[in-house]
Amino acid sequence: MNIKFNRHINNLKQSDIRRMSIECAKHPQGINLSQGICDLELSEQLISAVDKAIRDGYNIYTRYDGLDELRTAVARKLKIYNQLDYNQEKEILITNGSTGGFYIALAGLFEKGDSIILFEPYYGYHYNTILSLGLNPITCELNYNDKKNQWLINFEKLSELIEKNKTVKAIVINTPANPNGKIFSKEEIKKIFEILEKNDIFLITDEIYEYIIFDNNEHISPAAVSANKEKVLTIGGFSKTFSITGWRLGYLCACEEIITKLGILNDLIYICAPAPLQKAVADILIQSDCTFKELKDFYQNNRDILVNTLNEIGLTPCVPEGAYYLLADISKLNCKNSRQAADMILQNTGVATVPGSAFFNTKSGERFVRFCFAKKKDILLRACEQLKKLSFF
Ligand SMILES: Cc1ncc(COP(=O)(O)O)c(C=O)c1O
Repeated sequence: MNIKFNRHINNLKQSDIRRMSIECAKHPQGINLSQGICDLELSEQLISAVDKAIRDGYNIYTRYDGLDELRTAVARKLKIYNQLDYNQEKEILITNGSTGGFYIALAGLFEKGDSIILFEPYYGYHYNTILSLGLNPITCELNYNDKKNQWLINFEKLSELIEKNKTVKAIVINTPANPNGKIFSKEEIKKIFEILEKNDIFLITDEIYEYIIFDNNEHISPAAVSANKEKVLTIGGFSKTFSITGWRLGYLCACEEIITKLGILNDLIYICAPAPLQKAVADILIQSDCTFKELKDFYQNNRDILVNTLNEIGLTPCVPEGAYYLLADISKLNCKNSRQAADMILQNTGVATVPGSAFFNTKSGERFVRFCFAKKKDILLRACEQLKKLSFF
């Protein structure tokens, strides 16, 4: 039989992350710093809360937009941490991870042929979700300023892309960002809104790393800066905050009209997010002060360990402001491209990274590999020791 796939699925860009993970597993000293698995210990309270939720009967479908308890806890968190005011009855949808929220938003709001702007370097799932729906990704490259260690937006370019492409329907912001750790400042967000004001364009924000912020940086939710709630869709989740990437729990907040319609789609595709897991997260979230400071301390320490090692061996890192990845400059390895560099690093040290080309359409990605530092400290320290073998190259 001649199997024919949907043409948008055929267009998907295959990520190198899976390939590197497979190759890493074959290496006798393999340590996987390529994939953002985030396999840290779970809190005992969270484990007990799941157990209790199952025993208390939270095992059946929940309302299509999520359990009351979780929407209430999310609304409280949004108020305390994000300075956002969303009504838990009408403006919050519990989704199957932030990935589910992003998919629903794009599938519900846009038509084939519409264009979506992503900043480059981008998160591969954003790019592929756009492609899979027959939408058109347009990338706006961020310029890396080595001296300031900052990824800067070229606002002229952004305006020009919008002017030139009348099909642009949304801009996606990921803050803090995967893979470069950029945190969008209030000034940058304001300028993006100024550009949007003149056009009928949504801003979709993915804030999954909102609690992983370093130094004196501050997480700003774009919706808190906007005067126009109808233009912004805020997406977040619990995968990274509670180290529960496999639980598949997230949320999407927007105005009532959008949430009502997207809720129908969420129901159709997923019915609901896992019921006992919703209840457990709600129980822990509602009791917390919503700051989760321990995340910042843990990941900042990991970032510094990795940054110091990379500086020592000459793979100069772009020091991230948040999230748990960094891009490191591999020019010194004299490889043909970032794929060859990632293979070379893995073969010689056992440490798996991701070629920079996975996050860029332009050639700029060939200068980098991405490291993930969401690892237990002893494993990260071992990875750093192994990486030092590179100093001999
Ligand atoms: C930018 C970004 N968004 C979303 C996700 C996935 O989040 P979730 O587990 O909530 O679907 C990831 C995971 O790596 C990510 O890097």
